[in-house]
Amino acid sequence: MARLHQSQRKIAESSSRFKVLRCGRRFGKTTYAVEEMKGACLFEPGPVAYFATTRDQARDIVWAELLENVIGTTNYVSHNEQRLEVTLRRPDGSLNRIRLFGWENIETARGKKYSLVVLDELDSMRAFEKQWREIIRATLADYRGRALFMGTPKGYKSLYRLEKLSKTNANYEVFHFTSFDNPFLSVEELDEMRGEMTVTQYAQEMLAEYHKMEGLIYEEFNRDQHIKALPFTPERWALSIDFGYNHPFAAGIFAIGSDNSLHLDRMVYKRKLSDEQRMNAVRDLIGDTKLDFQIGDSEDPLAIDTLNRQLGLKIQPVVKGAGSVLEGINKSKSLLHQGRLTMDPSCEDLAWEKENYSWKLDKNDEPLDEPVKQDDDACDMERYAVITIHGTKKKEFRVRTA
Ligand SMILES: Nc1ncnc2c1ncn2[C@@H]1O[C@H](COP(=O)(O)OP(=O)(O)OP(=O)(O)O)[C@@H](O)[C@H]1O
Ligand SMILES: [Mg+2]
Repeated sequence: MARLHQSQRKIAESSSRFKVLRCGRRFGKTTYAVEEMKGACLFEPGPVAYFATTRDQARDIVWAELLENVIGTTNYVSHNEQRLEVTLRRPDGSLNRIRLFGWENIETARGKKYSLVVLDELDSMRAFEKQWREIIRATLADYRGRALFMGTPKGYKSLYRLEKLSKTNANYEVFHFTSFDNPFLSVEELDEMRGEMTVTQYAQEMLAEYHKMEGLIYEEFNRDQHIKALPFTPERWALSIDFGYNHPFAAGIFAIGSDNSLHLDRMVYKRKLSDEQRMNAVRDLIGDTKLDFQIGDSEDPLAIDTLNRQLGLKIQPVVKGAGSVLEGINKSKSLLHQGRLTMDPSCEDLAWEKENYSWKLDKNDEPLDEPVKQDDDACDMERYAVITIHGTKKKEFRVRTA
């Protein structure tokens, strides 16, 4: 069993219900989590759940270490590689479990009950606040369970927001440590890590400080300013869709103001929807809103036709002329800057994407004029609405009649 180092002990000694670990790389977060999970499994009433970003990551990061820590102890009963689950016997003879999950399968936690939930690498977890509110928080209700949020910051994201929350909510306690607080890392190793980083990376990765993410596209985006209830009287409404199956299907209803300000009122954001599920989702999304614009990703004409037929819609493919991506992004940035591109608090998936959507970097880490094609589905959906309402080269960007 690993003995906790001094800084890890400080975390262990706290009896706060929700512990937020903002720590530099290699501080010993995961090692600490294993100890805390073992303790909770043996001495607290309900089971323990550990989440990494993906299931593969959970297996790679913590499975071996967990087994190493329990096999051979008097409490060990069994483990199941397929379920990534360990069973231990508690001092009173009853059995309890620790199970590892991937954040991409967060839905599987619905309806479960836990004494402890651990979230490792919090800032990589998509739409954390929403999933916390809608799924995880309730899993801790029965046992008045605890949570351990940990990670190295990746900009002003979930860790930062939890830290802000901790100032007004006494259930939360933040622990800030750097990579240098791990006495088991050699000075040479730390120097080597530092030598390979830019100053900003060093501050973020090793000192666990908050820094603006490098190469971020929507730098202007700010939750306090851009997430709100509908700020104007809508004159028109638009439906915009970015189709996807393995990637999320993203559809949104935008309110349009008299000065063409855009506000995303509500959205759908889901992977692996069947044709029928997609149809139902879009029908529910539209409700009885009268649509003045209906636009969809032109790369998927078949999906557009299908939806039009199923629901009697008139979705038009967005014409993507050369440079339309950049034009749409620039227009969105200028609208954000003017406070004229906003979203309802329920649209957290778009907020999350906006905080991650980045330019590709060249070999010197300088941003190129091309976005990374990843986690961009809601951003694309929004961009189609923006270029439809604000496209300057009307011919090139106008909605094409089918
Ligand atoms: N209490 C401890 N006793 C002995 N070794 C430790 C202890 N805590 C951490 N270590 C060692 O320090 C290294 C980093 O630990 P760990 O992987 O837990 O850090 P981390 O903060 O999760 O790192 P990352 O940022 O890579 O996720 C590992 O080699 C681990 O074995
Ligand atoms: Mg770790």
